Amino acid sequence: MKTLVLANQKGGVGKSAVATLMSHYFAQHGQRVLAIDFDHQGNFSGSMRRSSRVQDAGITADRLLTESVSVMPSADLVLVAGDTPLSMLELQSTNHTPFARNLRHFLAVMDQQFDVCVIDTNPGPDIRVISALASADFVLSPIQLNQEAMEGVHGLLNHPRAGVRKIKAVLNPKLQLIGLLPTMVESTPFQRANFLQIVQRYHPLLIRIGDGPGDFASIPRRSSIAEAQAHGEVLWQMKKSAAREAWKEIEPTLRALAAIVMGQQQARAHASSQSGAGHDTVA
Ligand SMILES: Nc1ncnc2c1ncn2[C@@H]1O[C@H](COP(=O)(O)OP(=O)(O)OP(=O)(O)O)[C@@H](O)[C@H]1O
Ligand SMILES: [Mg+2]
Repeated sequence: MKTLVLANQKGGVGKSAVATLMSHYFAQHGQRVLAIDFDHQGNFSGSMRRSSRVQDAGITADRLLTESVSVMPSADLVLVAGDTPLSMLELQSTNHTPFARNLRHFLAVMDQQFDVCVIDTNPGPDIRVISALASADFVLSPIQLNQEAMEGVHGLLNHPRAGVRKIKAVLNPKLQLIGLLPTMVESTPFQRANFLQIVQRYHPLLIRIGDGPGDFASIPRRSSIAEAQAHGEVLWQMKKSAAREAWKEIEPTLRALAAIVMGQQQARAHASSQSGAGHDTVA
């Protein structure tokens, strides 16, 4: 089982939307998917639950941290939903190490039952995010193309507790940063200028989906993507032509991301660390 974490300390950047799209994409392609929501707001849980394809695990995600869980329902798309107790875990600092250990144990036990685990996280570098990153194979960071979000990239890499560099060095050397995924991208001059800025500054962290100069993974702002999330529908199964158009636009991005996670393509972070380039040159 490969574990993918969606993380960005900024709120409202599209983490839950991307987690939902990726979970359905993996399931559509025959992968057995374990979806975990570490956000007590439960947005990812809400949209997954509204889908008839999803089997609820019957326990909430806080228990994956506070207990030793070793059984999940037998189904191809299982959700462990987020709930309010998740927001209390950060206060229980003496239990943080057992929390991370419980999750690692749980994911190890699920290794044969599922092909991929998608973990959506809360915006904030707390023990939920740290525990997820400490056991994951991959982290993907949705970002919006505004100044504030771009400043957040520094935190993603360098936060003293939850930054990818610290997690890799201290807790989980196998963690690979897939990269930054610009979301809700609009074709306004302002966003185009910000995109150029981000390409210039962070291009090693953007995710290539082709050989052309602008061929980076991204998700446009489309109302059908928000609608699919709100109604628990699968974007590419919606009847509206706008949804089909949106699907055509994002399919290459989802395909590239899925290929990285399932090992059909080397993650850029891995490839660059092997060549010695790494990400230490940016941010
Ligand atoms: N590509 C998109 N096009 C249009 N709307 C989108 C898109 N992606 C996300 N949204 C909408 O933007 C809002 C914020 O997205 P989402 O909940 O995925 O962000 P988040 O990073 O998970 O937020 P939080 O940090 O609060 O968990 C939601 O209403 C969602 O439906
Ligand atoms: Mg969210």
